Amino acid sequence: MTTYSIRTFGDPVLRRPTAEVTEIDGAFAKIVGAMYETMYEAPGVGLAAPQVGVQQQFFVYDIGEGPSVLVNPVIVSGEGEWVYEEGCLSLPGLAFEISRPKLVTVKAIDLDGNEVIVEGDEMLGRVFLHEIDHLQGVLMLDHLDPDERKLAMKMLREQAFAGSVPGAAVPRSDHAL
Ligand code: NI
Repeated sequence: MTTYSIRTFGDPVLRRPTAEVTEIDGAFAKIVGAMYETMYEAPGVGLAAPQVGVQQQFFVYDIGEGPSVLVNPVIVSGEGEWVYEEGCLSLPGLAFEISRPKLVTVKAIDLDGNEVIVEGDEMLGRVFLHEIDHLQGVLMLDHLDPDERKLAMKMLREQAFAGSVPGAAVPRSDHAL
């Protein structure tokens, strides 16, 4: 099975805007399949296209209910508030408590090209918000307060100075996105 290497902090692709998916065909399904494999291998519970260098608007996820993909996702609504210690596959070793809406509704296209409305509560809602951020070049660092952000940048710099392959020796969160 094909897998991608996951792009980590510092790779400009993580900050670039993505284009809408215009064609859902066999080639696209192949990319999605490789992204599922990459997500399971990481392991993570969500993976957005820019994290593997694909500048298109879609992400894959599996919070234990089987793999799914959402194409051209748009947030319809977010209600309530939920604090969760978030990790990101592109920021290996980092985890910070971040407050985001608890119940999230997203409109998207599925792999058959049909419009779907999906609702995510708590963990699933968190996955939707985190991955849609990735599609807009936003990282979880951007949700931290100034002190936390300073700490995060220090940790990332130390990783870089250690000279290791990014992520290779750094523990990842079990629920990284
Ligand atoms: Ni992430």
